[in-house]
Amino acid sequence: MAILVTGGAGYIGSHAVQRLLRDGRDVLVVDNLMRGHQEAVRRLEPKAGASARLAFARLDINARPALEKLLRDHKVDSVLHFAALAAVGESVQDPLLYYHNNTAGMIALLQACDAVGVTRFVFSSSCATYGQPPATHVPVGEDCPQNPISPYGTTKLHGEHLLRDYMMGCNLAKKPFAYAALRYFNVAGSDRTGLIGEVHDPETHLIPVILQHAMGKRPHVGIFGTDYPTPDGTCVRDYVHVEDLIDAHVKVLDALRPGDERHYNLGIGTGYSVRQIIDGVRRVTGKDLKVVEQPRRPGDPPQLFNNPAKIQRELGWKAQVTSLEETIESAWRFMKNHPNGYAG
Ligand code: UFG
Repeated sequence: MAILVTGGAGYIGSHAVQRLLRDGRDVLVVDNLMRGHQEAVRRLEPKAGASARLAFARLDINARPALEKLLRDHKVDSVLHFAALAAVGESVQDPLLYYHNNTAGMIALLQACDAVGVTRFVFSSSCATYGQPPATHVPVGEDCPQNPISPYGTTKLHGEHLLRDYMMGCNLAKKPFAYAALRYFNVAGSDRTGLIGEVHDPETHLIPVILQHAMGKRPHVGIFGTDYPTPDGTCVRDYVHVEDLIDAHVKVLDALRPGDERHYNLGIGTGYSVRQIIDGVRRVTGKDLKVVEQPRRPGDPPQLFNNPAKIQRELGWKAQVTSLEETIESAWRFMKNHPNGYAG
């Protein structure tokens, strides 16, 4: 029996593959390599004699007959579904690309899962499904109304609705099935052994953008908006370390029992402003950083940080990395050693 990891060549998916293999579980990675890196998977290939096996298929999850055959061949009964496009700005410019990859892709994946009798499904959702939470809902709990303000957020909400409705059908047909939707806050950092890390092209996320400037690859860091109603006028976010995030996936997957429908936010529960992140990078890298104040970026909510109580109460999970420096350090280590990403 293998666990299917869709998007296993991507930033978050590859960290999941690493953890599952470390735990001795067989993994099947399906990735179309549109944004993923085969080199990440290659680096995770178990050594000869290791107990866990890793298989890789370059395939789009929309290619349903081929996907179904793979799932059957590898006797997949559990799925961690990461494969998706995840750039908010891009989703506004090209919504159909997002609906095709994220929404239609998830339908095809669920159809293949249904055909082979997958029983456990963990979905990579997002706090982008909450849109702009009302001030009364910050810190954000799972009961916050879900009103996405970008096509990306809408596709993630579609994913949650598809699972909810698919589950109802399974219950009627008495098919054993369980799922969890995990709503991520801002995922950051890299594997602390330095083997794999965050590589996006183009890079838009705050921490790697600042680190690229620290490496001399950008002339400055822009702060998108300094007049928000926050303590220092810049946006506040919750940065959760990628290895903690994956640890939550493993705990959730292992807890799923037939009939379960679980929804959890994944974040540390503390918000950091853009200026605090820039200061953190200054401390970790020891570099002088040139900051340019710029207008607001459309669609950015002022404050988004998590209320982590639910998953801690129900599954005993809480983020272990709560030091901003530690998260930045892990990302910095990978970037210093890989100035051109997986290309060297
Ligand atoms: N920011 C800057 N300058 C930059 C880059 C970002 O000031 O060069 C600011 C943004 O305006 C925002 C904050 O830094 O206020 C964080 O921005 P990111 O682009 O790193 O992350 P987002 O919060 O926009 O989005 C991330 C993920 C999404 C996910 C969302 C949920 O990229 O996939 O978190 O909060 F949906």
